[in-house]
Amino acid sequence: MTTDAKILKALRTASSSYVSGAELAASSQISRAAIWSRIEELRQLGYDIEASPHLGYRLKNSPDVLLGDDIISRIEKINIIGREINVFNQTTSTNDVVEKMAVDGVAEGVVVFAESQTKGRGRLGRMWHSPTGKGLWFSILLRPTLHPPTAMQLTIAAATSTRRAISRFTKTPAIIKWPNDIILNGKKVAGILNEISAEMDRIKYAILGIGINVNQETEDLPDELRNVATSIKIQTGQTINRCELVASILAELDSEYNKIKEGKFNTIADEWMQFCETIGKQVTIRVGGRIIQGRAESVDADGCLLVRKTHGHLERIVGGDVILEK
Ligand code: BTN
Repeated sequence: MTTDAKILKALRTASSSYVSGAELAASSQISRAAIWSRIEELRQLGYDIEASPHLGYRLKNSPDVLLGDDIISRIEKINIIGREINVFNQTTSTNDVVEKMAVDGVAEGVVVFAESQTKGRGRLGRMWHSPTGKGLWFSILLRPTLHPPTAMQLTIAAATSTRRAISRFTKTPAIIKWPNDIILNGKKVAGILNEISAEMDRIKYAILGIGINVNQETEDLPDELRNVATSIKIQTGQTINRCELVASILAELDSEYNKIKEGKFNTIADEWMQFCETIGKQVTIRVGGRIIQGRAESVDADGCLLVRKTHGHLERIVGGDVILEK
């Protein structure tokens, strides 16, 4: 953990109390003068830190900026996901940035954020609207020892973690719509794009791209999206601290990824099914040029959707779009 992350963690743990310069210096193993200069830097970034000559420092307010150290300071224990965090002001797509890192041999677990994306993309070649500072647009590099047909396990884990974390901020729990849309009160609040590079029998790397509409007002959404999309702020009336939300997602996903590694995907699938509105319903799903109709029964061990068609045959679905649900 960096010194800034240690300082932020100590100040946040103390809540509204003061932490002495001596304590901060001891826990960060730097001098009190160096602590003072780090505090000044944090203030420059917008952290409202009060300094009292006798009592020490107190965190009064955190700014609405994405800061890697802030995110890390909020996570209890990082195993893989979040080992390294990079925040860009603007990128084309965070998935592109992570792909370059993957090709360069960067270790798994790195997370790349952008305050805005000029070419944010969704599934099936759709565009993803990513306005500055209003949402969470980020991608995670993974190098799982999975066979390519089981890559959906990662998407299911990402949807489960994202859904769970978002629900901490809302009165009614968020739900999942096949394959990976997170829904609040009938409208999409987040989406997941899982892109993999694979050989026949192994995934070389996977890039989990997650987009969450956090603090947009209705006017911030493009006209054509207003009927189908929403943000957490629109639904709750609250401005959400994005570092707090994403720290919770990364912590959850880190532990779900560990379950996948241990061969315990079934526990993730159970939770996913519990909160997936598609399960148990009569559905019409478009997969490429095909239309599949039937009852969505469950996800299988690979993370694919099992749909029981009218004549009883079970169809295994990867991706696609639910176009009708009864
Ligand atoms: C979807 O629902 O179609 C998936 C949307 C995924 C959007 C995220 S935002 C961060 C990452 N970078 C991208 O270009 N896309 C994903």
